[in-house]
Amino acid sequence: MNRGEILSWLKETDPVRLEALWAEADRVRQEKVGDEVHLRGLVEVSNFCARQCHYCGIRAGQSGLKRYRMTVEEVVRCSDLAVQLDYGTLVLQAGEDPGLQAADVALMVRRIKAETPLAVTLSLGERDKDDLRLWREAGADRYLLRFETSNDALYEKIHPPRPGGWPNRIKVLQFLREIGYELGSGVMIGVPGQTWDDLANDIELFRTLDLDMIGIGPFLPHPRTPMGTDPDACRAPADLQVPNDELTTLKAVALTRLVCPETNIPSTTALATLDRESGRELGLVRGANIVMPNLTPFKYRACYEIYPAKSCIFELPGEFHQSLLRRIAAIGRVPGRGQGVSPRMHHRNTAQEKT
Ligand code: 5AD
Repeated sequence: MNRGEILSWLKETDPVRLEALWAEADRVRQEKVGDEVHLRGLVEVSNFCARQCHYCGIRAGQSGLKRYRMTVEEVVRCSDLAVQLDYGTLVLQAGEDPGLQAADVALMVRRIKAETPLAVTLSLGERDKDDLRLWREAGADRYLLRFETSNDALYEKIHPPRPGGWPNRIKVLQFLREIGYELGSGVMIGVPGQTWDDLANDIELFRTLDLDMIGIGPFLPHPRTPMGTDPDACRAPADLQVPNDELTTLKAVALTRLVCPETNIPSTTALATLDRESGRELGLVRGANIVMPNLTPFKYRACYEIYPAKSCIFELPGEFHQSLLRRIAAIGRVPGRGQGVSPRMHHRNTAQEKT
């Protein structure tokens, strides 16, 4: 699929014509990643953050937010729960928190890898090379870092840099790939200032980066952030601006499946938040093959408010799990077994072994 086709599908609004996109995305999903829906338990390890991203509810300086950082012991307990629920992966996510000691994260990873059969995914922001290397050596399998937008000017506008930090996120992604992580990235849909051209470029960049995991969710305004207070401030002209709605998110998910057929694609919590009734299922039948249920201890859950009314705030692991299994069965799919490595990663590894 070329850029022109991506762009015209993104702008398509005719529900009859869109049926062809949905059907093709679902067909390719089934052919390349099968009917398994892999479950990744998400643990929000810390909500401290050194960054000031204009859209994010846990940005540095956010007032009235109780900050927390989980202990190694607490995180390891979450991994036991993931094993009990038969998940294949634990995802450790946090704000970019310098107080989250690299050695403690390494200890979490080592213990989880020694005590469970889980894959470990880290999503801890733009950390220094030494930290990223240390965690990989400790056994971490995957790293998630969304590039958020391929438009450099927009990126810089909404992500004030950290002095002494990385020059840009693509460089971090390249480094993560070099040192052997299975690599995930992604974008938000409908950030003020994001144009249709930008979104087509985002999808092309997914292909160029040869990603193993691609998370795509709608931008949800948080009222106590610069972007939530004044979303019109940097909005593009109406005919250019991408809307932050469900349909556009689903089109981006479906197109991403076609452009990166062997990638793991989650049906995101943000999509499920926008449409509580059926967002999660719609993602799964239009290209996605992953769900990331929240396993953060309940007492911390509400503090990780990157956007308001996150659907998982009300989910109890046990109950949610039962309803998720029912929902997966209702769309004719089955819960994943094993770690759910992306076929893309698998092929890359076997190609390497041959050379
Ligand atoms: N709306 C939607 N998604 C958001 N994220 C952060 N803030 C918001 C928001 N207001 C997403 C970012 C980040 C991921 C963990 O959550 O894309 O990479």
